[in-house]
Amino acid sequence: MGFVLSALLFQPLYPPRFPVSSLASFHSHLHVDVSFSHIMSDFQGPRIAIIGIGKVGAAVAYSIIHKQIASEVLILDLKEDFQDAQVQDLRDSTSFGISPRVRPGTWKECGQCDIIVFTAGTNQKAGESRLALLQRNLGVIRGGFEKMAPFKEDAILVMVTNPVDIMTYFAVKYSGLPASQVFGSGTILDTTRLKDTIAQRAKVAPRAVHAYVVGEHGDSQTIAWSNMAIGGIPVDQVLPLDVDEKHEVAEFVRFKADRLNKVKGETSFGIGAVISSICTSILLDERHVLPLSHYHSDYGMCFSKPAIIGRRGIVKSLDILLDEDEQASLEKSINKLKTVAYATENPEPAIASRL
Ligand SMILES: NC(=O)c1ccc[n+]([C@@H]2O[C@H](COP(=O)([O-])OP(=O)(O)OC[C@H]3O[C@@H](n4cnc5c(N)ncnc54)[C@H](O)[C@@H]3O)[C@@H](O)[C@H]2O)c1
Repeated sequence: MGFVLSALLFQPLYPPRFPVSSLASFHSHLHVDVSFSHIMSDFQGPRIAIIGIGKVGAAVAYSIIHKQIASEVLILDLKEDFQDAQVQDLRDSTSFGISPRVRPGTWKECGQCDIIVFTAGTNQKAGESRLALLQRNLGVIRGGFEKMAPFKEDAILVMVTNPVDIMTYFAVKYSGLPASQVFGSGTILDTTRLKDTIAQRAKVAPRAVHAYVVGEHGDSQTIAWSNMAIGGIPVDQVLPLDVDEKHEVAEFVRFKADRLNKVKGETSFGIGAVISSICTSILLDERHVLPLSHYHSDYGMCFSKPAIIGRRGIVKSLDILLDEDEQASLEKSINKLKTVAYATENPEPAIASRL
């Protein structure tokens, strides 16, 4: 008896103490498939691909994993070692609750996912012009689309790479997907920041604030003051703000990312939450209304206006009523975006100098 016990206790942990055949039957009894590749080939359920797993991609992945909306999350990055390390790190967070499988994906596999979130991009190098950066990022997205094409027929492509309106425009142009299935995060993050600062001033919850930032996700954005409400009541009745205060709010929202970037070098948690909320609205066919950057055929450009989204993408683009000044500011923003998009594809010095 003593001999049997010590033989069992002092066996090495690996190779296993049980014969392999009994281990297999033990697992089949528990309905656990020990073969990883079998799990993958047998896979059914919503799949989300994240292209680019840097700071933003990782925050998006983490938020999606813990919203428990997908069965599988595929990760792809140019830097393979870094990509694999990010996958392993993210997987370590998946043991608590219902979690998707997280694994590296090939370009072809990513193109077959239900949602493809594109965060890959490069940052401005020292001495590099904004136009040169735009052209490099255009190269990154076009290269990626060519390797993923043809996309799953009902795939939704969500652009995050900046400048997001321009990249969304090129995604509509080059992905081969219907325009309704391609959009960018647009001014959702700016709108979140706007709601938060108005909520703080009015001492209410941010979700009690109804507001939109429209136009460019960038310097030329416009706050739709004439549409803003708190608990359904026009903002001027609840929180009257004078011209200076409105200007202060607008500047706070416009430059929040710059301020954070100066101190921490990046912003990622906010956009992570924004993208996982967009993915939820798509997969649950929620018909949420969000200021997404999407294609407007009357302007031939992508910019943000509220839109209804569901499993098929943009269900309807909504015509928000703006006052004269707001409309003029939006038109200026659209013209700026059109100039930049044109110059990116036709880099003539005369146009480049106006960027
Ligand atoms: N839309 C928004 O509201 C919003 C908010 C924050 C950041 N962003 C943008 O998101 C993008 C990513 O930001 P970040 O901080 O994560 O940058 P990052 O440098 O940390 O990550 C970018 C990743 O993309 C990868 N990559 C580059 N080229 C690639 C290619 N050809 N194929 C596959 N992977 C490639 C890089 O290896 C890197 O890991 C930037 O363009 C940033 O401006 C957008």
